[in-house]
Amino acid sequence: MFSLLVTLLVSSQTLAQTWCNKNYIQGQPVVPPGGQFSVPELSSTPLLVFRCAPIITPYLEEDNEAGVIVETFVTYSRYSGAEPIGIAGPSSTAALAVSIRVNGTLLAQAMVGLNSTSELHFPLANLSQPRHQPFIIDCTASYASPDSPGTQTFSTTAALSYLPPPLSGSVTKRDARTGALLVKPQGSSLYETIFPIGFYTSFDKYLDSDLLILDQLKAQGFTIVHPVPTFGDLKALAKVLDRMEELGLFLIYDMRHTYNDPAALAAEVNMIKHRPNLLLWYTADEPDGTSEPLDATRRAYEAIYAIDGYHPVSIALNCADYEFAAYSAGADVIMPDTYTIANDPAFSAKYNTSCTLDFGCCGCDNCRGELEDVSRRLDDFTMRLDVLGWVHDKAVWAVPQAFGGEEFWTRAPTGREFIIQAILSVNHGARGIMPWIDPTPADIKTASSALAIALGSVKTFFFDPQVKFSRVVSNRIDVGMWTLGAETLLLVANLNAHDAGLKLPLFDTLEVREVLNYGVQRTIGDKTQLRFEFEGLGCGIFVARPKSLVLNVQGDEL
Ligand SMILES: *[C@@H]1O[C@H](CO)[C@@H](O)[C@H](O)[C@H]1NC(C)=O
Ligand SMILES: *[C@@H]1O[C@H](CO)[C@@H](O)[C@H](O)[C@H]1NC(C)=O
Ligand SMILES: *[C@@H]1O[C@H](CO)[C@@H](O)[C@H](O)[C@H]1NC(C)=O
Ligand SMILES: *[C@@H]1O[C@H](CO)[C@@H](O)[C@H](O)[C@H]1NC(C)=O
Repeated sequence: MFSLLVTLLVSSQTLAQTWCNKNYIQGQPVVPPGGQFSVPELSSTPLLVFRCAPIITPYLEEDNEAGVIVETFVTYSRYSGAEPIGIAGPSSTAALAVSIRVNGTLLAQAMVGLNSTSELHFPLANLSQPRHQPFIIDCTASYASPDSPGTQTFSTTAALSYLPPPLSGSVTKRDARTGALLVKPQGSSLYETIFPIGFYTSFDKYLDSDLLILDQLKAQGFTIVHPVPTFGDLKALAKVLDRMEELGLFLIYDMRHTYNDPAALAAEVNMIKHRPNLLLWYTADEPDGTSEPLDATRRAYEAIYAIDGYHPVSIALNCADYEFAAYSAGADVIMPDTYTIANDPAFSAKYNTSCTLDFGCCGCDNCRGELEDVSRRLDDFTMRLDVLGWVHDKAVWAVPQAFGGEEFWTRAPTGREFIIQAILSVNHGARGIMPWIDPTPADIKTASSALAIALGSVKTFFFDPQVKFSRVVSNRIDVGMWTLGAETLLLVANLNAHDAGLKLPLFDTLEVREVLNYGVQRTIGDKTQLRFEFEGLGCGIFVARPKSLVLNVQGDEL
């Protein structure tokens, strides 16, 4: 986040540091930063990507059944772990005999189709006792080709957590199918999904000075608060965290200044881990920006799991493409900082240099200065997680820009610019929204509160494993559609600064409910289509009840 950037850059003049491993001071040489993600090479024959992952992390003693997601993805790209499979063509309807075992004992088996995702379930009693160390599940898939003799066997493993209950404090579970976090809300005995939305929030001289700020945040619909250290006064911190707990606000606990110091990290984890409203740990803040040691996040991650193990770990990354795999290895939740509003990402207002793929610091790494920077970054991260085999293990969140008027940014976003960043992010996979930073301009606070209430009211669509998702991008109008039963949730955003329109063929739309509207004039044309008319940067959230949804879109400029 940029407060760290400020600190870094002040010292950088003397230390000759880099940002995203690029030089950025006038007169410095241009040195390619390296560390880019390698896009997988192509194969001339089909490859099988065979993957297993626990559905829920962690399982607890109180649960009866566990499940494993089995993925049999067929591709021509050399994804991590992809192996040649002797099928005639990619559209083969062949099936694989899949079995999962622990320590040689069969837990479940099934025939699964090629290029499919299935779930295999088994009683947790089959794992003997819960324990702190994960169980290694061995997954095998056998393929008997009709065209050639013999059987091909593929194997992989999954680490499944089956934990004893925590001595005190709470558990944050993750659902690998949807990226959802599950918590027990205050006073409830059942786990429920949460849509995490709330700001990075200044602590010293803000949160610490007025506990009523928390009451307001709760009333405004936010579900999380991320106090930003330093925490000058630990008694004040305890009061803030107590009040958050009373109000049912979940905590992201930030250890950006201590995660590299094992003793300090252990002390903080031990101080906080018993808090029932702890949702996530947060360690490295833009470690790629400052080129922290490549194992820094991973070491902190392992240290936190050794002491706690009941709450996931998160980080924020600033760079477009610098050592993604190394830093992401140390997190369960990864959030890119893509601050593109009121910024010229080609010329650094602060350093009086141009910014390129190899040089410069512009506040939005390798950006083009358009809203698509936000969705492109999320798409890139999702693609890399998929290539690495981590899509089921790690979720992506967004950090919408909620500041400006300093450094590289000539002004803060408007309320509508804020909302459109967030809607675009959710459409491109973000399963939490944590803007930088509160205090924020009043219109952003108002808009983000409306968004928090809206997202909370429709979260079932994002987090029900049965949901069918599709996305349409046409004429810079971005539409995410989540269909569950007879209803379709639509998140719509016109990225154009001018008016535009879009028709979606939704047959027999019975009713459209408006959940959030910033400049969308919706009209239902006839019985066969849903027509949206947008103002510039118009965006909103709607629920339609069609009988069927045909994805054949016509862009339609007004
Ligand atoms: C596998 O499934 C995906 C998603 O359903 C699809 O896009 C892809 O074309 C399929 N691949 C093959 C080789 O059939
Ligand atoms: C695995 O099997 C071995 C030998 O049968 C046994 O000693 C060990 O405790 C088992 N481990 C687990 C996790 O069940
Ligand atoms: C797994 O658990 C079920 C239910 O307790 C039991 O019937 C079955 O025999 C167990 N299987 C193994 C391999 O332990
Ligand atoms: C910015 O850089 C240009 C040369 O690239 C120089 O002429 C100009 O004086 C610089 N401006 C400032 C404010 O340093």
